Amino acid sequence: MMMKAAIYNDYGPPEVVHIGEVVKPVPAPNEVLIKIVASTISAGDWRARSLEMPTGFGLIGRLIFGVFRPRNKVLGSELSGIVEAIGSDVTQFSIGDAVIGYPENGCHAQFRTMPEDGAIIRKPESLTFEQAAGLFFGGITALDFLLNFGKITSGETVLINGASGAVGSACVQLAKHFGAEVTGVSSAKNHDLVRSLGADFVIDYADEDFTLGNKTYDIVVDCVGNAPWAKSKHVLNETGRLLLVAGSLGDMLKASFVSKKHGKKLVSGVSMGNRDKLLALMEIVESGAFRPVIDRVFSLENIVEAHAYVDRGHKCGSVVINIAL
Ligand SMILES: NC(=O)c1ccc[n+]([C@@H]2O[C@H](COP(=O)([O-])OP(=O)(O)OC[C@H]3O[C@@H](n4cnc5c(N)ncnc54)[C@H](OP(=O)(O)O)[C@@H]3O)[C@@H](O)[C@H]2O)c1
Repeated sequence: MMMKAAIYNDYGPPEVVHIGEVVKPVPAPNEVLIKIVASTISAGDWRARSLEMPTGFGLIGRLIFGVFRPRNKVLGSELSGIVEAIGSDVTQFSIGDAVIGYPENGCHAQFRTMPEDGAIIRKPESLTFEQAAGLFFGGITALDFLLNFGKITSGETVLINGASGAVGSACVQLAKHFGAEVTGVSSAKNHDLVRSLGADFVIDYADEDFTLGNKTYDIVVDCVGNAPWAKSKHVLNETGRLLLVAGSLGDMLKASFVSKKHGKKLVSGVSMGNRDKLLALMEIVESGAFRPVIDRVFSLENIVEAHAYVDRGHKCGSVVINIAL
């Protein structure tokens, strides 16, 4: 049996992606087969397709995604859908369950298999399939950086650079949830959105470079890649942390050195999803403190147009691909 998928065989512009047919997966004994309803095109998909990597990560990008050609031909890190079939050993899911998953690739297709103990949980009824598909790339990254890497505590001051993107919009909401005072940096056209997510203050990056200001913060989160340690350390409090969601290899390599030398800390790393983190995020969703921001919805047939839209670098939250449209 075959299924439709968005396939890319070479790195490059949006046009390297085309709709084709691939073999429909069959679940192993411990796997569920998911009929995908929606997925997203994330900044991670943009990097994996274009090989545009943060400074210093060019070779590492090829090692991760495939040296000469992409290793995984189907992009899409997150999904929402319905369990269509289950392997003989599966006990936690049944056919017909609405689920959300974060397998990190292969979601721009009609079907995907996942191990039942992988990064997959039931979809909350409070979210549509399109909303639910946009939860994890931004939400898990924000949770990892703020809580697990940044050790955020109530009452701290937090600045989010890139506050309207998928990761930034999640950071604003989660930082508020953890009791912080939040400043969001975005273009002026997105200030209403960033305020509506809970930001106490907003800065227009076209008007003001926050790294040159007098105000200091307990945490600065850079979701853009233009606020490295050399610029941002001046706006950290004495025990402040700079969390580089998008940082250079140079800053990543010097993180432990500068963190030992200063009271201030530089934290850089890679967020990874697992079921416990998905469930932790879901508790926050169900408390009403976090909603994924959805920018636009495209059909699978219009995936090249959707990639081109993401490539502009100014999406608000997530760009969703509705596979069922
Ligand atoms: N380390 C990890 O594990 C990890 C995980 C996930 C993502 N990432 C990285 O995190 C970055 C952000 O991802 P994302 O999904 O949030 O991207 P995104 O949704 O494309 O967000 C980009 C945002 O950046 C803003 N922006 C553009 N230029 C800006 C500037 N000069 N100053 C401030 N904001 C600016 C845009 O806002 P305006 O439209 O208002 O300009 C837009 O909202 C990407 O580089 C991605 O690769 C890293």
